[in-house]
Amino acid sequence: MSLRDKINKEKLPGHVAIIMDGNGRWAKLKGKKRIYGHKNGVTAVRETTEAAAELGIKYLTLYAFSTENWNRPKDEISALMSLLVSTLNTETKTLTDNNIRLLAIGDLDRIPEKVCRKVTETIEKTAGNTGMSLILALSYSSRWEILNAVKKITENALDNKLSVNDINNELFTKYLTTCGIPDPELVIRTSGEYRISNFLLWQIAYAELYFSDKLWPDYTKEDLYEAVLSFQHRERRFGKISEQLVQPEIICGEDD
Ligand code: IPE
Ligand code: IPE
Ligand code: MG
Repeated sequence: MSLRDKINKEKLPGHVAIIMDGNGRWAKLKGKKRIYGHKNGVTAVRETTEAAAELGIKYLTLYAFSTENWNRPKDEISALMSLLVSTLNTETKTLTDNNIRLLAIGDLDRIPEKVCRKVTETIEKTAGNTGMSLILALSYSSRWEILNAVKKITENALDNKLSVNDINNELFTKYLTTCGIPDPELVIRTSGEYRISNFLLWQIAYAELYFSDKLWPDYTKEDLYEAVLSFQHRERRFGKISEQLVQPEIICGEDD
C-alpha cells in the first residue's frame, strides 16, 4: 500500500502550514550560491501544492519570506523577489489547472511595487477558483501581525467603535491578516530546525507540529504524505482527557 493510499480522506488536516527551510544549505552542499537553492525550492513548492490539492486539503500556507528576512544581504533579497515574480508568471496556469486560488498574508506594503502588483494580479486572476486556497506568507511575522492588530483595535476603541469588553478571541482573530482563514491544524518545518521563527504564533495555538530533516528543495509529495499520516495518528485533546474524546457525555468543567 502506498503512503498516499494509507491516508484517511475523512481525517485530513483542514489547513497545513509549512516553514520551507534549508534552501541555502542545500545549495552550499552542492557548492553553489544560495539563490540556486531558492530556485530549486520552487519545484518543491509545486510538488507540495499539487499533492495538497490532490489530497483535498482546503488551505495550504507557505512561509516564503519573513519580516526578519529583510535583514539578509541585499542581493539575496532582490534575487528572491525576482524569483517570486517569475514563479507567479510561470505557475498561474498550474494554479488555475488545479482550481487553486492564491491569497497572501503579511506586510505587503514593504515588498517592491512591481512584486506587489504581480501578487495582487495573481490573486485577482485566481479569485474564482473554488478548490484549495494557497496562502503565501510574504514579509510576514507574527509579532508584526499581532502588533498591527493591537494598534487597529486600540484605534477603534478610541473612536468608540468598540468597547474593551468586546475584545475576545473571535474579535482579535478578525484583526489578523489571516481573517477568514481557519487555523492551521498541521505545521511542518523542514531542514532539521526545531523552531517556529515568528510564524502564525496566535493561529497555531493547538496545531500539531511536524519536523522533517529534509532540506526544502528535496521535499516531495511523499514527504507531505508522511506528515499527514503522522497527523492522523495523533490524539488531539485540546486540554481535555482522552476519555472525553470517545465519551463526549462525560461532564465538562467550565468551558466546552
Ligand atoms: C528558506 O531557506 C527560504 C527563505 C527563508 C527565504 P533558507 O534561505 O533559510 O535556507 P537556509 O536555512 O539558510 O539553509
Ligand atoms: C524561516 O526561515 C522563514 C521562512 C521560511 C520564510 P529562516 O531561515 O528565516 O529562519 P531562521 O532564521 O533559521 O529561524
Ligand atoms: Mg533558513
